[in-house]
Amino acid sequence: MTQAGEGAEGPVSRREPAGHADGLSAGWDYAPAPESRDIVSIAPEYGLFVAGEFAPAAGGGTFSTVNPATEETLSRVAAAGPADVDRAVAAARAAYDQVWGPMPGAERAKYLYRIARALQERAREFAVLESLDNGKPIRESRDVDVPLAAAHFFYYAGWADKLEHAGFGPAPRPLGVAGQVIPWNFPLMMAAWKLAPALAAGNTCVLKPAETTPLTALLLAEVCHQAGLPPGVVNVLTGAGDTGAALVAHPGIDKVAFTGSTEVGKEIARSVAGTGKKLTLELGGKAANIVFDDAPVEQAVEGIVNGIFFNQGHVCCAGSRLLVQESVAGAVVDRLRRRLASLRLGDPLDKNTDIGAVNSPEQLDKITRLSATGEAEGARRWSPPCRLPDRGYWFAPTIFTGVSQSHRIAREEIFGPVLSVLTFRTPEEAVAKANNTPYGLSAGAWTEKGSRILWLAQRLRAGVIWANTYNRFDPASPFGGYQESGFGREGGRHGLAAYLDA
Ligand code: NAI
Ligand code: MG
Repeated sequence: MTQAGEGAEGPVSRREPAGHADGLSAGWDYAPAPESRDIVSIAPEYGLFVAGEFAPAAGGGTFSTVNPATEETLSRVAAAGPADVDRAVAAARAAYDQVWGPMPGAERAKYLYRIARALQERAREFAVLESLDNGKPIRESRDVDVPLAAAHFFYYAGWADKLEHAGFGPAPRPLGVAGQVIPWNFPLMMAAWKLAPALAAGNTCVLKPAETTPLTALLLAEVCHQAGLPPGVVNVLTGAGDTGAALVAHPGIDKVAFTGSTEVGKEIARSVAGTGKKLTLELGGKAANIVFDDAPVEQAVEGIVNGIFFNQGHVCCAGSRLLVQESVAGAVVDRLRRRLASLRLGDPLDKNTDIGAVNSPEQLDKITRLSATGEAEGARRWSPPCRLPDRGYWFAPTIFTGVSQSHRIAREEIFGPVLSVLTFRTPEEAVAKANNTPYGLSAGAWTEKGSRILWLAQRLRAGVIWANTYNRFDPASPFGGYQESGFGREGGRHGLAAYLDA
């Protein structure tokens, strides 16, 4: 359920089942261990962060953001309209022309290091806020999202004064103003993935967080202020899809970076076509996680669980299609079922929780509908005994066996805790099935054989291929897709190219 670093020996696997059918579970349940939410103070209302200050939207519009685990309204945030987009882009342009563009890289780096350190110092606050606004388990926001966000700023801070050695020519230049639209599944981490390389390369930014998860981006804006970042270098516009559309269509920006659905990505590509704006898109996925008969079963099962149940499956690179070699399929699925019965679903702030809340009623509806389609098309559905809380948006971890390649649950991105199991007999068949998708973001392979891993890596059409691990991220490693998963890379030296005129 966590970064693969926490393997089969981790504390999770030793826990007792959440909801035993034998009625003995009560005596064995872990006592709740909730993280205190006192560390965050959430204001009743937030403005837009433009030119270094928080201010209401010009039109006065607001919308509420909700804790998906309780349906409690956490705060109301400003809804940016076209006038606000104008103002933010103008502030970013002025900051680019007057301050950030001319500033030497070594000076820019100091601000990025400061932001990285502030993220570390305020890590608990960010983690609790992220879990409240998004619904993800505190164990993940604390151990994955926040540390990786800080790591991204540290990593790109190191590049800011070395751009002429990055392999993009002797004097690579920034693009100017970047308009960046991000999704709700990793709100802070996606903000870091967008801002850190852009700023290191000398661009200024207007960032539009997702409408269901604006709070950590607003706290990050406060951190930028705390770090003394010159006004206008980072601007944060909260709002829904129309705000995002107004931002990407604005004539004053030079670069568009988007992470989200393939559908909206295509709309953005159309809107940007012919304008000369540079574009990167990081879209959906339907990754194959391939288990061979020589893989250590316990380790592979941990990898399968981490691949699809991490972050409730709201992961673009989730291993949502398990391809397991037929000769071991029975054993692997049996072991997987036993492991699923030990996952704990519930309060995201409880440190024992493995599976938190689904982010929104819309997403819950999509997962529910696609899962019903799986049954209707003839796949066999299974979930462990699992009591769902009365309030909030929840979906039990689910596996489908008897899935064929034509089933919708094998083709469409469900973006939830739902795994489709398919089988294969030969490595060639595994590759053919893995590549049978319009997407191509990631893939996983579980085998003892190094030669087979290299053979697979040459044939799988996916941007990231994990071997004997899954969902492992590092700021030094480029991430991005093939085909309908988008284009451009984030992370690593490659991630700089998206923000340089090289
Ligand atoms: P979405 O693509 O609508 O939202 C992502 C971001 O784009 C949000 O900030 C949203 O406000 C913004 N946006 C929406 N319409 C826009 C437009 N026309 N122009 C510019 N920005 C716009 O994704 P949504 O509706 O939240 O989720 C729908 C499905 O998309 C999910 O079920 C999942 O399958 C997929 N998805 C994939 C993600 C990924 O990381 N690959 C992330 C989020 C969703
Ligand atoms: Mg929320």
